Amino acid sequence: MTNEQYFTPNPSSPSSPYVIDVALPDGTLHLTTDRGVFSYGALDTGTRLLLLKAPQPPATGNLLDLGCGVGPIALTLARRSPSATVWALDVNERAVALCRQNAVANDISNVHACLPDDVPDDITFDCIWSNPPIHIGKVALHELLLRWLARLSDTGTAIMVVQRHLGSDSLQAWLTAQGYPTERLSSAKGFRLLITRRCAVAS
Ligand SMILES: C[S@@+](CC[C@H](N)C(=O)[O-])C[C@H]1O[C@@H](n2cnc3c(N)ncnc32)[C@H](O)[C@@H]1O
Repeated sequence: MTNEQYFTPNPSSPSSPYVIDVALPDGTLHLTTDRGVFSYGALDTGTRLLLLKAPQPPATGNLLDLGCGVGPIALTLARRSPSATVWALDVNERAVALCRQNAVANDISNVHACLPDDVPDDITFDCIWSNPPIHIGKVALHELLLRWLARLSDTGTAIMVVQRHLGSDSLQAWLTAQGYPTERLSSAKGFRLLITRRCAVAS
């Protein structure tokens, strides 16, 4: 038993793959999960809320799953927007490999799973969906969000799910104060679903 965190770049915990079926209104995903990766053996409750309540993503363009884990969000984005390109990012290499493998296993071909620094600098995102890694700490989380929210297209939105007792309301206020107006879309089982927009830039 280790205390390894799910955001370790190269998990040392022995691999022990476990397949779960995730039933959603638009079909079932078959996902291989593993030790050393977020949400081993079950879909996270917050992720489920996001997948059930998020608005329809843009039909085309570049869409981002920030912190993809084994890929439930990325694969759902890809299935709902088959003409878009979905970028699935994670610092955990085991997660990136599983997300890729899960895309193939579910016959999904428009997901590009990679490490954050492998995303070309000139790409902007028409939407971001994320169950963000709150446990990396507030400073690192804020840096991470500012890095990727800056790459939203002018009309792009970010949909994020955050547990109330892990600071969803203060995160909402902080994002708004940073110039990213953020509202609550939905709330259930102790989680908040937030929508963040780019502030219109005065010309
Ligand atoms: C709460 S988990 C969500 C995983 C997956 N999206 C899901 O819903 O099951 C957050 C993910 O963010 C990843 N992460 C942590 N720091 C990151 C960073 N700097 N850039 C990208 N991903 C990161 C973690 O490794 C983890 O897989």
